Amino acid sequence: MNSPALAVRATVLQAPTPWSLEVLSDVVVSVSATGTIEAVDAADSDRARHALATAASTVVLGDDQRLLPGLVDLHVHAPQWPQLGTGLDVSLERWLFQYTFALEARYRDTAFAESVWAAMVPTLLAHGTTTAVYFATTHVEATTALASACLAAGQRAYVGRVAMDHPDHTPPDYRDPDAEQGVAASAASIRAIGALHDPMGLVAPIITPRFIPACSDDLLGGLGDLAAHTGVTVQTHCSESDWEHLEVLRRHGRRDAHSLDHFGLLVAHTVLAHGTHLDDADMDLLTARGAGVAHCPLSNAYFAGAVFPTARALARKVRVGLGSDVAGGSHPGLFTQCAMAVTASRLLGDGVDVTLPADRRGVVGARIDAVTAFHLATAGGAAVLGAPVGLWEPGRAFDAIAVDLAREGSALRRWD
Ligand code: GUN
Ligand code: FE
Repeated sequence: MNSPALAVRATVLQAPTPWSLEVLSDVVVSVSATGTIEAVDAADSDRARHALATAASTVVLGDDQRLLPGLVDLHVHAPQWPQLGTGLDVSLERWLFQYTFALEARYRDTAFAESVWAAMVPTLLAHGTTTAVYFATTHVEATTALASACLAAGQRAYVGRVAMDHPDHTPPDYRDPDAEQGVAASAASIRAIGALHDPMGLVAPIITPRFIPACSDDLLGGLGDLAAHTGVTVQTHCSESDWEHLEVLRRHGRRDAHSLDHFGLLVAHTVLAHGTHLDDADMDLLTARGAGVAHCPLSNAYFAGAVFPTARALARKVRVGLGSDVAGGSHPGLFTQCAMAVTASRLLGDGVDVTLPADRRGVVGARIDAVTAFHLATAGGAAVLGAPVGLWEPGRAFDAIAVDLAREGSALRRWD
């Protein structure tokens, strides 16, 4: 028996499947010097006693505390942080031009970017987001600075330079000049993030075409080639709203997921944000490619005009996690999204238009519950990314949050 760097004694929770919640009462989690879980043992076992006695440091949680896997937010627009909770009065296509592109363009000023990242990353960590998948901006320097801010704060992160060049759906002062320069800038961003000092392997680049309407075919194809050459995975928006979905159909004569696949952008661990309009064939394509969905239930209420069919996607074996979609979603962190995912599924299941008869109002079998939502926020998101987090398992990273049930003013309570 070797001695761990850290031994944590606690009662821990996890949701290994969308339908199972496990409570491991009074266990000792042994952690290596590089932050990897080495063992999870009952506290009264010999191995646990040895770990507690010999670990370089120990943490013993109180009776009123619980340890949860850190939350995995699959979809965050980091530069939109300053407009969190505002500008939610228009449609997606107007919101981009009326508010969002102008704000994102300001990150050409790297000092401004650093000031936002320094405020945002620790705040998201404080909300339990130990892994975040970020859209940055088109600016390579601001994007590298975001990865550096994640390293400084100790947040696991996938950081993507946004690529977009289509003159019809991006403003002249905030777009890649052409496809070639867009691909070159994305390649440069991958190199810059790869060159950061990161002994724990916390940050990774991710290829980030904003969405099909904002990208020329040459840019989409070039980024697909970049993914194939580098092995770096991809994130984008897919079948988010009627407008976006129909714009791709009009331009390519294909549904969004199939068009992304055509350009080589649907690869293992591709993260597709929203996906409210995915049909069964789209879902099967995602499953075949190993791509997954960032379900952003609050943002979908504002901008998608639809509810992502979580239960149907899970039944078709699609990998699904949760996204805050800061700032298309108005709240940081994933606990709000867990609640919203359940709420949205109930609205989808029951239907909301009382002029229809109750038995024709909703979608049969659409409901999910809090256990499913907790799974999506942890192990589900980890599976989308192929990231070794989200569960209390040897070999996974010790990314964890402690919840204090007895904190004054908290509505959380312990019941037998
Ligand atoms: N589609 C293209 N860009 C965006 C964005 O910034 N937010 C959302 N929600 N959808 C998008
Ligand atoms: Fe988004």
